[in-house]
Order: sequence, then C-alpha cells, then structure tokens
Amino acid sequence: MAHAYRAGAGGVVTKSIGPKPREGYPNPTVEQLGSWGMLNAMGLPNPGMEEYPKEIQEALGAGAVVVGSLFGGDTEEFASLARRMEATGVHALELNLSCPHAKGYGSEIGQDPVELAQVVRAVKSATHVPVWAKITPNTHDPALLAEAAEKAGADAITAINTVRAMAIDPVLRRPVLANELGGLSGPAIKPIGLAAVWKIFERVRIPIVGVGGISSGRDAFEYLLAGARALEVGTAVATRGIQVFREVHEELAGYLEKAHFRSVAEAVGAAHRR
Ligand code: DHB
Repeated sequence: MAHAYRAGAGGVVTKSIGPKPREGYPNPTVEQLGSWGMLNAMGLPNPGMEEYPKEIQEALGAGAVVVGSLFGGDTEEFASLARRMEATGVHALELNLSCPHAKGYGSEIGQDPVELAQVVRAVKSATHVPVWAKITPNTHDPALLAEAAEKAGADAITAINTVRAMAIDPVLRRPVLANELGGLSGPAIKPIGLAAVWKIFERVRIPIVGVGGISSGRDAFEYLLAGARALEVGTAVATRGIQVFREVHEELAGYLEKAHFRSVAEAVGAAHRR
C-alpha cells in the first residue's frame, strides 16, 4: 500500500478484511486471460481484523490516504468490523457487498437491496468516517443497489466489483479455478463498469468511485465522463506495473486539457450533457 502511494496513487484501498484470519481457497486461484484481463477466486484471504492494523499503520506512516475494505456475513459483523477498522485511523470505509463467489458474503448480501441497506445503515450508525458501498455488477439493475445504499446513508458508491466468470481447461476438461467460479477483472469489464456508472449517475446524487478495467488515461477519462469522480485501478498494476498510477494521471491530464476541462470536477458526468 505504501509502495502504491509512493508510486503516485491518490489513495489506497485495502484487501477486504473480515473478523478472523482466512486462508482463502486452494490454488489455482488466479488465471491470466491475456488481453481480456484476469480471472480470480481468492476466497477473501486476509489476516483478520486483529492482525491487520499493523499493515494499515505502515501505509498511514507512509502518508497514504487509506480506505479500509470490509466483508462481513451479517449486519452485526459488518458494524463491529467497521468500528474496529475506523479505530485504525483509516480515512474511509469501503463495504465489500459484491465479491461474486464467497458463500455467505459479498454479493450474496449485496444483491438484495434490503439486506444491503441494512448493512449500510448499521455501519453508518456505528462509525463517523465516510462509508463507500461497493456494489456488484452481477444483477439486473446495479443502479437499484446504488439507490438503496444512498437512501441508507452511504457517502459514496464504488462501482463495479468483478463480473462472475469462469475458465475451463480443455485438456483436463475441468474448471481452471479450484473454486470453479471466479470474478473477471481488467479490460474486458470496462464497458460493463461504464454502463453501471452511467446508470448510477442518473439515479444517485452521492459521488461514484469508478472501477473496472482502468489501465490508461483514456479509460480514466471515459469513467469521469460517465459520472465517476474518483477512480480505482487494480488489475492494471499487474499488467502495466506500479507506475500505472503516475501514467494514468499524466495521460488523464492530457485528455482533460485537450477537452478544455479546467478540473476533474468539470468532466464528471459530462457525457450526459448535450
Ligand atoms: C475476491 C473478492 C472480491 O471482492 C472479488 O471481486 C473477487 C475475488 C476474493 O477474495 O476471492
């Protein structure tokens, strides 16, 4: 996290943290899909909320803006984790309501607007830092989930998480990932993320954090035009390297200048205006 921040990221989001240490699924957990991106089913591996503050301290010590990502199995677990995460000194919380395959977690909770709202409401009343609801694209109407999160008091929507997907090995005639199903990230999901951000921008007033297939200034610019006001980059760190943050910044600045936008804010949602 400190390394990403020093490399030019405006902030860092942690891997999602749960109540207890979790090994995750056995290998294979990741499959590279060439120019499409990456397929993964890690199984939410993490050192647990007791151990994790040490890592956050290192990131904060490096001066990073840190967003603590959480996953819980129910409302109470989310609220109690949120309290503990807030106490580490993170600047905001991101609720993982969208992991596409972990039994009892993520999108199993976050695909239902009623359950999603309960989690957001509980976390909001337990904490004081901004709360971002990370929603799933694996539903007929992601904007409905975003609306539910906004009504429940979320301060921002993060869209999107990975798209449920799989790979099959034709020689073994078996799924590639040990978990069978996984989440697709990278270039292939950019159009899906753009469509989600586009629809959410029409329906909610809180800021949207755009994520999904951003690996260049052009991708970043498109997400801003669709309605995002901050951006996250994940998979492109594996393909372009840690300098991706600085490169995306520089390339984006070029797009903003060419379009005569004087600030990022002026570009946000600009594709909606005729
Ligand atoms: C995992 C978690 C996610 O939120 C996601 O989108 C994909 C994978 C995981 O830990 O398996």
